Amino acid sequence: MTTNIRRHDLGAADRWRQSVLDRAVPQSILDAAPEPQALLEPEMFRWRPEQDAQQPVRPSRRRALEALPEGGTVLDVGVGGGASSLGLAPKAGTIVGVDPHPGMLEQFEVSARECGVVPRPVLGSWPEVAVEVEPADVAVCHHAVYGVEQIEDFLLALTSHARRRVVLEVSEHPPLFGIHPLWRSFHGTERPDWLVADEAFAVLEELGLDVEREDVCLPLTKREVTAEFVAFVRRRLHVGPGRDPEIEQFLRALPAQPHTAVALWWPGAA
Ligand SMILES: C[S@@+](CC[C@H](N)C(=O)[O-])C[C@H]1O[C@@H](n2cnc3c(N)ncnc32)[C@H](O)[C@@H]1O
Repeated sequence: MTTNIRRHDLGAADRWRQSVLDRAVPQSILDAAPEPQALLEPEMFRWRPEQDAQQPVRPSRRRALEALPEGGTVLDVGVGGGASSLGLAPKAGTIVGVDPHPGMLEQFEVSARECGVVPRPVLGSWPEVAVEVEPADVAVCHHAVYGVEQIEDFLLALTSHARRRVVLEVSEHPPLFGIHPLWRSFHGTERPDWLVADEAFAVLEELGLDVEREDVCLPLTKREVTAEFVAFVRRRLHVGPGRDPEIEQFLRALPAQPHTAVALWWPGAA
């Protein structure tokens, strides 16, 4: 893509692609990183029903439940530990969980059995593994699209694998938006912001899908600043443990962050 094309001249899917590329970590930062790039930590994404019960029911769950028949099948793409679909039990009988991260799938399987749901883990990236996956009643995908360049293929494969409805959940801003100031102080670089939910909506409209939207502002919560959380943030910043005291100080001083979760849903086509 030539740089003299202005962003507002692009179609929605090309704008999305450009935003994903703009957020790629510069090679110089990766080259200087003391640790290799880390996969997401499964423990951080474990399904915690006791915490879930204290939260308001999100529109993404209500919209999936209203389309799901009793004992129905759910396809959860980017399942992680299952927080995106295990709340659909007991209405969901079977959940097909797709993820390229084996540790996430192991955690999903354990939690699904505890919930009385039949798990069908599929190891791999969407949409590459879509040919191995049967259509489900409802497809869900929460917080798994932020790094997807070929967003049209991803969304169309979700649509063709859902009989009744697809429900996508994204945040208003990109992940870890709150730690952008640390990028400035450690690397002297600005982390680009991006109105993720607005742009995802625009891509879905551009694809001709009959998309609807509901936003929810989640109650202000402040995550406990544990050593595990500091290490999680440090790995995302590509710096060494020597920076932990600064990261910890920053996180402790950070006010509780507002978080708007956005549900986007449209009819399936399977
Ligand atoms: C931020 S976690 C969210 C997990 C879960 N959906 C939730 O809401 O708790 C994103 C997950 O998507 C997975 N993922 C990323 N890109 C993917 C792709 N192209 N296909 C399938 N899974 C993907 C990651 O491995 C990770 O487990």
